[in-house]
Amino acid sequence: MIGNIAFSHYTKKDDIHGTVLYPGVMVAPVQKKILKNIILKDEIKSIFEPFHGSGTALYEAFEVSPNIHLVGCDINPLANLITRVKLQGVSTYILRDIKKIEEYIKKPPFIYEYIFPNMKKWLNCDVIDSLALLRTAIMNISSKKNRLYFWYILSDVIRFYSNTRSSTYKLHIKENIQKGNLENAVIDTFLTNTKKYIDKFKHKSKYFKLYKNDIFDIIKQYKKNTFDISITSPPYGDNRTTIPYGEFSMLTLYTIPEYDLELEGWELNNYSMIDKRSMGGADKEYMLNDYEMSLINYYLDRISPSKQRKIIRYFKDYFNFLEELCRVTKKYIVLTLGNRTVDRIKINLVLITKKYLEKNNYIKVKSVSRIIPRKRTPKLTSNVYQKPVSSMNHEYILVYKKIPLLHCKKKCSSGVKI
Ligand SMILES: C[S@@+](CC[C@H](N)C(=O)[O-])C[C@H]1O[C@@H](n2cnc3c(N)ncnc32)[C@H](O)[C@@H]1O
Repeated sequence: MIGNIAFSHYTKKDDIHGTVLYPGVMVAPVQKKILKNIILKDEIKSIFEPFHGSGTALYEAFEVSPNIHLVGCDINPLANLITRVKLQGVSTYILRDIKKIEEYIKKPPFIYEYIFPNMKKWLNCDVIDSLALLRTAIMNISSKKNRLYFWYILSDVIRFYSNTRSSTYKLHIKENIQKGNLENAVIDTFLTNTKKYIDKFKHKSKYFKLYKNDIFDIIKQYKKNTFDISITSPPYGDNRTTIPYGEFSMLTLYTIPEYDLELEGWELNNYSMIDKRSMGGADKEYMLNDYEMSLINYYLDRISPSKQRKIIRYFKDYFNFLEELCRVTKKYIVLTLGNRTVDRIKINLVLITKKYLEKNNYIKVKSVSRIIPRKRTPKLTSNVYQKPVSSMNHEYILVYKKIPLLHCKKKCSSGVKI
């Protein structure tokens, strides 16, 4: 039995997920409880996370069953780096490498200057100098595993000492009064965190494969019924109007040398490139088929024409993704979803998804909701037509099981209690 999944007192601070910031993350103990229930009851050999973000579900699956095969994908190179570091940990020489960095900082033989678009808007000159020094010291480390851990730790340090506000995931400049008030402790903070978190990275998963790609380029390569479990939390809308995962990552991505990032080549072209190429972001005209239209018509009829195009674009991608997910999954699909509001109309992504999965031979095992206790987004967000709009305060977890082909035509129950 899944039982209570509120975990209202859980804070990321105590586990590996609290060592780095990434937007829209899943709640680790919730995912772990669900995975434990399925993994310990069924024969599970492989897990697929199509939008792995900071790798919450993949890491928790590894914790439940270290020999399980993990496959993940994300379009954002920072998500790829974060998840890789969580899964592969650090090398045995990590303490020696930290020492090397400390020595380099004390007496740097040279410093590589670096530059990126609008750098001086987002970073004060003294912060740029400290980052250039740290960056050169990290580049001087020969173990790639450890370098990636250092970039991972540096990611939060850059954001913290930048001129962007901490109240939003967008890059949004601080007001002049606040700017410059923060004492520059870039190097000390980096060294402190590097040492403080080491113990959380002393494991390694031997069986994982991560793709830094658009999911649509990857999922089609997999055969029918490849993965025992697919577990994910997809974007709830296009990145630019929901969470700008790409924009959030850019200051770090511009700082890490390209040879330590998984890149296809277009990611650093500008600050909004990753968000534009993410789910629902492409500026194309799309057509939905009659069945897909029937699932979203109710909402389309109630929102302004200017927003309709965006919703259609998102759902075209979403339905394509679900179709492929149903195909490559052998046993269970586990989704964490939220219902967003457009023009004051709640788009019931949960209901739409349930209908879609049921039409595609999946049967409900469990559907639970939990209140999101702490959120960066306020409970009431921007005004639409002069009235405040509520943001998502609940998330929903759906566990669906594939009906074996033989039984598809009969109406059957899942037979699994979790
Ligand atoms: C809700 S977040 C996932 C967060 C993750 N569950 C966690 O706990 O950290 C959604 C992720 O989907 C990724 N994404 C968006 N569009 C994508 C696409 N077309 N292909 C692959 N990943 C995509 C974003 O970069 C983001 O990391």
